[in-house]
Amino acid sequence: MKKELASFAENVALSAGKIILESINNIEVDFKGKTDLITNIDLESERSIIDKIINSYPSHNILSEEHGLTNNNSDYLWVIDPLDGTTNFVHNYPSYGVSIGLLYKNHPEIGVVLELPSKNLYSAIKGSGAYKNGQKISVSKVPKLTNSLHVTGFGYEHGEKWEINMKLFKHFTDITQGVRRLGAASIDLCHLASGVVDGFWELGLHPWDTAAGIVIVEEAGGKITKMNGEPFNIYEDQIVATNGLLHSKMLTRIDSVSSFFNN
Ligand code: IPD
Repeated sequence: MKKELASFAENVALSAGKIILESINNIEVDFKGKTDLITNIDLESERSIIDKIINSYPSHNILSEEHGLTNNNSDYLWVIDPLDGTTNFVHNYPSYGVSIGLLYKNHPEIGVVLELPSKNLYSAIKGSGAYKNGQKISVSKVPKLTNSLHVTGFGYEHGEKWEINMKLFKHFTDITQGVRRLGAASIDLCHLASGVVDGFWELGLHPWDTAAGIVIVEEAGGKITKMNGEPFNIYEDQIVATNGLLHSKMLTRIDSVSSFFNN
């Protein structure tokens, strides 16, 4: 059953990806906030994903970035970002994608992320490993912060959490080999899962940013918590994800920069 659901999610992500790539010259941009963008293609991708879920699994719940929650009182919850990295997509910056996670009784069980425009397909089923284009992937084995590369993101609200993340960005840029900021959290998590970067953190996230990526990271051998080391769930808006070897070192450094997370 899990395999069937995962291959369904992969096919749904691939057809949403096709819609997105074919629409690249036909984008209409609107604003959800001062700099928070939405396009006609976010909505087209979302419609295609939701229609396919309703068609195949009509009793399941669905939570999607633009559409919100459809609650059918099911144990299954699909959590969708139909176009993660909308700003990148609008600017043709090559880091955006489709993120589809499935939770069963609140536990993330399946994660599928299609990275665009590269069409790399990341996928994981709880307990069965993580894959990129069908090849098994694993997190890096970098044990020291001085040898590590990281990625983070900044949400659209520029308040206290944004200020704290600026401090973290500065600190980790100082003590590691660098911190990247690409602009699509689900893709960042997949880069961690495939060993391209060694750590990822962010504040101000939403369930659809992380629901798929966390399964892929954990199945690739990574570790995920909140900034204070407590267990993470998709409704938390802050995350630290690492290759495991760096986890406690990162938490210690985060604590040294700000006591915000322990209050
Ligand atoms: C955003 C991206 C970005 C992250 C923001 C998200 P969206 O999603 O994942 O990397 O920093 O927090 O909201 O709006 O492009 O789907």
